[in-house]
Amino acid sequence: MSTEIDKAADYIRARIGEQKRLAIVLGSGLGGLADALQDAITIPYQEIPGFPISGVASHAGALITGHMDGAPLLLLAGRAHYYEHGDARAMALPISTLKALGVETLILTNAAGSLRKDVPPGSASLITDHINFSGLNPLIGAEGNERFVDLCDAYDPELRDRFRAAAKASGAELHEGVYVWFSGPSFETPAEIRATRVMGGDLVGMSTVPEVILARHQGLRVGGVSLITNYGAGMESEVLSHEMTMRFAAKGANNMMKLFKTVIADLHKNPL
Ligand code: HPA
Repeated sequence: MSTEIDKAADYIRARIGEQKRLAIVLGSGLGGLADALQDAITIPYQEIPGFPISGVASHAGALITGHMDGAPLLLLAGRAHYYEHGDARAMALPISTLKALGVETLILTNAAGSLRKDVPPGSASLITDHINFSGLNPLIGAEGNERFVDLCDAYDPELRDRFRAAAKASGAELHEGVYVWFSGPSFETPAEIRATRVMGGDLVGMSTVPEVILARHQGLRVGGVSLITNYGAGMESEVLSHEMTMRFAAKGANNMMKLFKTVIADLHKNPL
């Protein structure tokens, strides 16, 4: 894999110049962040050697660099999901490539279902921990003792504090919760949602957890934020659909933008 990583990193480095320390994976509803970048350089994933192509219509699939109010930033707009490829390592190459490019902090965003009535669609939730309910692990087959990754504080405590402070400073609404990974692409059953609540889950989604494990394996600091697009299956009468996810992602986008602009500025001024 190391030559594949070198190829991808060399290709990107030749196009983007200055090293970026902060990268963000944009899930549904955060595309606006890419539109707000100054001096943007966009590299479609299909141009980058080895990068996965996402088939999900709402996930553009491009690496974008630029500045947000003066702060250098690297964005991965779109991600490959396990449910597209049947491969928990779908994001392994992009994440290893970020490390090779000098990225130190990776913030993962996603659309998620809420298991808490007080956390409604359109709101944002800081991920404090996760439960890997898929039984899959992207490090299966990896070698060396580094594969036994400690996942206590996988979601970096200092970064979590920065998000809390940014929410306060910007007036953005930010809940907190434990994210539970289901493989998808079908939504959960009402019984699975009830079981997940008993287990201690607050959010459910189809991404992010394998990326967190891969990023921690690479020694990156990790943060995660979910944009709530619906209540978990069976908690309300509306039928779950991707269209519904996109509708509520749009509703919460402004709040997410406020939060992210503030945290990006803060991390630039006071690096972790
Ligand atoms: N379940 C799983 N993934 C999701 C959901 C959900 O309810 N909403 C958005 N992504």
